[in-house]
Amino acid sequence: MNKIGIIGAMDEEVNIIKGQMLRVTVKTIASMDFYEGTFNGKEVVVVRCGIGKVNAAICTQILADLYHIDAVINTGVAGSLRNEIDIADIVLSTDTQQHDMDATGFGYGLGVIPRMERSIFEADKQMIDLAKAVCTEVIPNVGVHTGRIVSGDQFISDSGKKTWLVENFDGYCTEMEGAAIAQTAHLNQIPFLIIRAISDKADHSAEMTYSEFEEIAIKNTVKLLNGLVEKI
Ligand code: ADE
Repeated sequence: MNKIGIIGAMDEEVNIIKGQMLRVTVKTIASMDFYEGTFNGKEVVVVRCGIGKVNAAICTQILADLYHIDAVINTGVAGSLRNEIDIADIVLSTDTQQHDMDATGFGYGLGVIPRMERSIFEADKQMIDLAKAVCTEVIPNVGVHTGRIVSGDQFISDSGKKTWLVENFDGYCTEMEGAAIAQTAHLNQIPFLIIRAISDKADHSAEMTYSEFEEIAIKNTVKLLNGLVEKI
């Protein structure tokens, strides 16, 4: 893979990577700053897309159209949806789904996108395997899980909503961009991987634990990205 797009939702996530890039040129498109250069010897475009699915989809489409990326990686934090997935663990996406896509009133299942041939988008198997191997090497003490990531334009910090999510979707963690990036990548035939470090448990304690663990979570994903980008 020649050129890799790396999308983070927030400044904190991409600042460390930007700081490690060489030969950087910056272009602002759709109010997003695209940093093109090399990272660990690999051509990359690093960008903070902003929060939510609309920002994430726009950003991915720009990476496809204007930068002709060969793969896209999304890093960031997420809320855990499973007891065995702890704060600071990492979840690698097998696939993604939007949990706030709801056309049930029109006869579709929850999370099903009307008139599309699929609503669950599969991550690139090779990128998943590579990421797993890099985790074992660079962050051996961090719990790494591989499973479905569910996304919606909602920060989940309510135990009732979390229970609803767990009961209706087979998600390992929840966040606000991954499924939009995955869908856009799929529509453009670009392989993708979502990498999320767990910052909270997506319940009443979410807001407090989020800020406490955000920093450590981000540091772990950056270590993983360093190794992954080099080997991809
Ligand atoms: N990102 C990190 N934690 C989250 C949560 N609880 N809900 C949605 N997005 C998140």
